[in-house]
Order: sequence, then C-alpha cells, then structure tokens
Amino acid sequence: MNCAERLVALFGSQAEAARRMKIDRAVVNNWVKSGYIPSRWAVEVEGVSGGQILATEVLNEAYAARPIRVKSRGDDAVLFGSPLEGNDAMNPYAPAKRIQSFHPPQRTLMGPGPTEIHPRVLTTMSQPAIGYLDPVFVEMMEELKALLRYVFQTKNALTFPVSGPGSVGMEYCFVNMVRPGDKVVVARNGVFGGRMIENVERCGGIPVVVEHEWGEPVDPQKVEDALKANRDARILAFVHAETSTGALSDAKTLVEVAHKYDAMTIVDAVTSLGGCPVLVDEWKVDAIYSASQKCLSCTPGLSPVSFSDRVVEFVKGRKDKIHSWFMDMNLLLGYWGATTRTYHHTAPTNSLLGLHEALLLIKEEGLENSWARHTRHHIALKAGLEAMGLKFLVKEPWQIPQMNAVLVPEGVNEAEVRKRLLSEFSLEIGAGLGPLAGKIWRFGIMGYSCRPDNVMLCLSALGSVLSDMGYPLHVGDAEAAAHSAYAQMHQKAAQQKKKEKVKVAA
Ligand SMILES: Cc1ncc(COP(=O)(O)O)c(C=O)c1O
Repeated sequence: MNCAERLVALFGSQAEAARRMKIDRAVVNNWVKSGYIPSRWAVEVEGVSGGQILATEVLNEAYAARPIRVKSRGDDAVLFGSPLEGNDAMNPYAPAKRIQSFHPPQRTLMGPGPTEIHPRVLTTMSQPAIGYLDPVFVEMMEELKALLRYVFQTKNALTFPVSGPGSVGMEYCFVNMVRPGDKVVVARNGVFGGRMIENVERCGGIPVVVEHEWGEPVDPQKVEDALKANRDARILAFVHAETSTGALSDAKTLVEVAHKYDAMTIVDAVTSLGGCPVLVDEWKVDAIYSASQKCLSCTPGLSPVSFSDRVVEFVKGRKDKIHSWFMDMNLLLGYWGATTRTYHHTAPTNSLLGLHEALLLIKEEGLENSWARHTRHHIALKAGLEAMGLKFLVKEPWQIPQMNAVLVPEGVNEAEVRKRLLSEFSLEIGAGLGPLAGKIWRFGIMGYSCRPDNVMLCLSALGSVLSDMGYPLHVGDAEAAAHSAYAQMHQKAAQQKKKEKVKVAA
C-alpha cells in the first residue's frame, strides 16, 4: 500500500481522511489516484496519523514519483543564471547572459599590431571628458599637430589625425586625390598594396598594378617602367613597410621616380612611422598616412596623415564633388585646418589626448632613439630566432625592424604554436595573411612592445612550445644568441660614447 492508501485505510474512508487533514475530499481522491501524497503534505500526514505514516515515507514516495530536476547546462544554457530576472524579465531584447564589466587579461602583444600601450597613455585617456571645441582642447590640437609634424619630419601645414583606423587614412588619401578616370600606378607586394588597388577602383580611377613577389620590396625600376608606359598616370601609390610580409621599400627613390614623371605619391606609413625613418620633407612625399596603434603605441582608431601644399591645392581645385562627405578634405579643414575650428564631426577627444601623450613619449625619447631602439631589439630578436633555425621571409637589407616575418618550419602546426603561446604565455604573435597564411609567423616589436623583456619572453616561450611539440632545437640557444647580440651592441655603443667624449675633450 502506498501512503495515500494507508491514510485512507487508517481513517476508514477518503472523506474521513480529508476531514482529519482539513482538506477537500477531492484532494485525497487525487492522491489515491496518482499513487502518492505530494511532498509538501509530509509533515501534516505524520502528525494527523500520529506517526503511523512517517513524513520521510511520504517524501521518499513523492520524490520517487516526481524527482526534483536539477537542470544541467545544455548548449544554449544561460551562463550565470537566468536572464529573465528583475527588470529584464519581460524584455525580449535582453542579452542572453548576465554581462559584467569587462577586464581583459594582461597580454604581451608581439603581433603586427595593436601594440601594448604605455601606462602614461592609458592614464591620459582616462581623464575627464572635454568638448572638442573647448579652447583648452583646441590648444592641445595644435600641439598634437606639431608633434605629428615631428614624427613625420615635415613642415606640412596639413598634418593631423583622421578619426578612424589606418584604413580610413588610406581611403582619405585616395578619395581626395583620385578623380574618376585618373590613372594610378600601384605597387603591390603584399596585402595592403592590394587594398590600395581596391581604393583606386572604388574612386573610379584606373589602377596600373605593378606586381611583386610577396616578401620583396617595391622595385623602383619596375615602377619606372610602368610610369614610362603610362605617361598619363597622375599618382604612384605604395606601402613603405608592408606589414603582411615584413618588407621595407626604398620610399625616397620611389618618390623620386614618381616625380620624374610628374606623378604625385601616396605612401602608406602605417607600420613604419615611429619605428624606422620616415622623412616626409626630405623624400618630398606628397601624401602619407599612418595609424595610431603600431609604432606610435596608442589605441587603434586614429590615422595621422600629412599632405604637401601641392596636394592641398589640387584637392581645393577639384571641380567635381568628392564623393565622400566625411572624407572631403575641404570640409575637414574647417576643424583641423590652420585657422578655423568649426564642427565637422564629434572628434574622439580622449583618443586624441592619448595620441598626444604617445607622441610626447616619442618626443621625449627622441625620434632617432626610437628608430634605434626598434633596430636594436630587432637585431637581438633576429639572432634568437635564427639560433632556433628559423628563416626570415625577407632578405637582410629590406627587413622591417619592427615587423619580423619568419617561415614556419616544415611539419610544424603554426596555428597550434600561436594558440599555445597565447594560452600558456599570454603572448600574441601574428599569422600570415593571404597567400602567406599558414606559412609565416609575424613577430612585431612596435612602440611600447619593443622592449628587451618582450624579446626574451618571446624567444623563451617560442623555444619551449616548439621543443615541446617535437621540433628539434636546443632550448636556451635562442636566449643566449639574443643576449650575445645585446652584449655586442652595448659594447659598440660604449666604445662610440668613449670616442665622442675624447673628441669633445680634444
Ligand atoms: C601597412 C598597413 N596599411 C594599412 C593598414 C590598415 O590599418 P588599420 O587596421 O588601422 O585600419 C594596416 C594594418 O595593419 C597596415 O599594416
């Protein structure tokens, strides 16, 4: 007999059991029919039956009939409790999980960008909001332009940061300088040259593409041949430091070649600016753009640009309407130009404060010292990577110090290596793009990431992961090679200093 039947038997009828329990008879009838008494009645049943039917007996029976379901998480389970709580209970657009403040892990960033950010830049960016037309902010803008002229090594009046990442800076140059039907010679030796071609086409221009092997620098002779064959070409566009391959091109010579054929130049200095010489005035570059998140070591989202007077005059004289309102240089001059400060768009004020601080850090270090630092750590990193048996994609004179591309050794799962570096060492390195996907790793040492501790961590971590994955190397050789490279450079520098002292004394 189950508890419900025993209760009825004890009192002779369902009606009497119901009377004793002070409930409706139909309820007792339902218990008998379903074969158990629900658990919430357990204590009362024990009391009314004078202990002849124990509460635990009722409970066991009830749980056997209707087990308590403990929901385990399924694929679509809601993490951290139900979203249908509190005010969100009736809101069908509430996120499917409870969201908390985001705290990114501390990473060592040694990919193609973004880079680590100097604490002074981060602190500056967290300062109170200020209006983008506030006189104090406007004063800061003038300093920012002056600092940009310093890193670009130019006196170009129109030198300022466009609101947007490097891609926006690139587009800004093409949209303003390329009219429908204009011929533009574009040298492609990697991903970003390809994007320049896209830009020319989207502006209605006609690209004359000068193809190169990926990993090769832009060949001035090939470019000259193209300009010779296309005398009506108005512009030469090329990437100074091709991030996708690690190849540096001879910007000075390329600009000279372009000017010989009366073509203006658009130069991509996204990865080069701040990390190696970019001499806008000396090289007579017409238009140049960069990005805030590489060797300038600021947050992504700003693109410093600089234009010669020739470009400004050309854009001002355009008879057709520039087809992007936001990018129209003539309109933006109202905000960033020499005299006026009128509303164009809401400038990203705190990011601009950050860039101001990042540029100030370069000014304090000295631009030449910043270039030298990138070269110094490149030499040490390279010594270490080569001691592991890794080969550089780019030949010696054209290697970009801040962007080191090495070939993935045969049989090594390159994605697994990157994954393990990230999970075990919190170290991010870059993969190959386009035709180089799966074939190279890219080690960036840019801006604040360009430090000896990062170089040593990278070599130790990579050596440890590779040897663990069965790649034949002697752990420690890479670090020793890097240390030795540093030691030689320090010795050379000390000797140089000594010589200079002697010279001064004499
Ligand atoms: C050479 C080069 N040009 C342009 C870009 C585009 O810059 P962003 O990603 O900031 O839009 C990059 C980005 O890595 C780059 O390396």
